[in-house]
Amino acid sequence: MYSRRNFGSAKEISYRSTSQSPSLDVRDGYTEQQQLQYTKYLKKLRNEFEERWCKTPTFDIAFSDLERVKTLGTGAFGRVILLKHLKSSKYYAMKVLEKEKIIKMKQVDHTLYEKRILEAIKFPFTVSMECSFKDNSYIYFIMPFIPGGEMFTHLRRMGKFEEPLAKFYASQVILAIEYLHFCNLVYRDLKPENILIDKNGYLKITDFGFCKILQGRTWTLCGTPEYLAPELILSKGYGFSVDWWSFGVLLFEMNAGYPPFYANDPMKTYEKIVSGKYRCPSSFNADLRDLVRNVLQVDITKRLGVMKNGVMDYKNHRWFRGIEWEAILNCRIPPPFIPKYKSPGDTSNFERYDEESITPASYCRFESEFMDF
Ligand SMILES: Nc1ncnc2c1ncn2[C@@H]1O[C@H](COP(=O)(O)OP(=O)(O)OP(=O)(O)O)[C@@H](O)[C@H]1O
Ligand SMILES: [Mg+2]
Repeated sequence: MYSRRNFGSAKEISYRSTSQSPSLDVRDGYTEQQQLQYTKYLKKLRNEFEERWCKTPTFDIAFSDLERVKTLGTGAFGRVILLKHLKSSKYYAMKVLEKEKIIKMKQVDHTLYEKRILEAIKFPFTVSMECSFKDNSYIYFIMPFIPGGEMFTHLRRMGKFEEPLAKFYASQVILAIEYLHFCNLVYRDLKPENILIDKNGYLKITDFGFCKILQGRTWTLCGTPEYLAPELILSKGYGFSVDWWSFGVLLFEMNAGYPPFYANDPMKTYEKIVSGKYRCPSSFNADLRDLVRNVLQVDITKRLGVMKNGVMDYKNHRWFRGIEWEAILNCRIPPPFIPKYKSPGDTSNFERYDEESITPASYCRFESEFMDF
């Protein structure tokens, strides 16, 4: 049914359930027993996350050995630049954040979280930190370079994703959210711009700028208008449910080519979101409509992922019938789409950006605020 060929990072993570008849399980959906076993595995990953969270990491890359190539992306808080490591010829992506801007935008706590989370997470569908640096004016996060570009770029180019591709991506995003939530991390910025496609065709979620460890509820208004959950807009105090809502928006956008709640004015977008009213395009089949309806539930007690069966409600939903969750996790399913990629430093999957010079001040700025970085 699927090739056993390894399409990705099975070295990084190789999960096997001890189930005797995986193909039977697949036909019958994802069984309680499979999930129980997977939960044991997630516990191991969470322990590793917690160990790394408490440790100060050591790096063997010197900043002076990294050569700047070009800008890959810009965001609200900084820019991401392609780097070449001169000794190994390996390529990296470096997120550059200006201390002054972080202070002005009151993002010191978020940025410290971003750093520590990037250092501690390890999952096939998330980026992680290779090393970090700071100088008089800037903070630098160095990550592996994910050359396939943003999901956003490919989605706009293709118009919308064919159902098998949308399903392939959705299943990876579900596994990533399940992992993050298991580590008590709420992500809060799921959108096609923050999802990268690796050279093997599998996803890597980037941008942990709004991610944080969550105990109980939180109130911070953050994220991207079209992707904000109603409970977040209504300042009710919210939890992990916001990521499942954003997943619902992503699911819709991947299949339709546009998000379910949209207006030129963000306030109007928010009104539409809290009303929970949207229209599915006629191309959505009954299973997809049912899935979207159950995720985009304003009432969080009815939202898929939040209810007592948790992620199992996704893994056993009819739209995901045929998805082999363990094979997806181990990158053993041939991807329906593989981005064009000519050579190691190829940036053709990224847009062009104007370059800006990075000139640190001659004295250390905001030293105490960035002591823990
Ligand atoms: N590891 C990576 N490899 C390749 N490109 C990357 C990588 N990380 C980020 N990028 C690119 O840089 C862009 C900006 O990065 P990021 O989203 O982390 O910045 P940001 O300032 O926090 O953005 P936002 O406006 O979403 O808050 C991404 O959308 C992506 O195109
Ligand atoms: Mg971003």
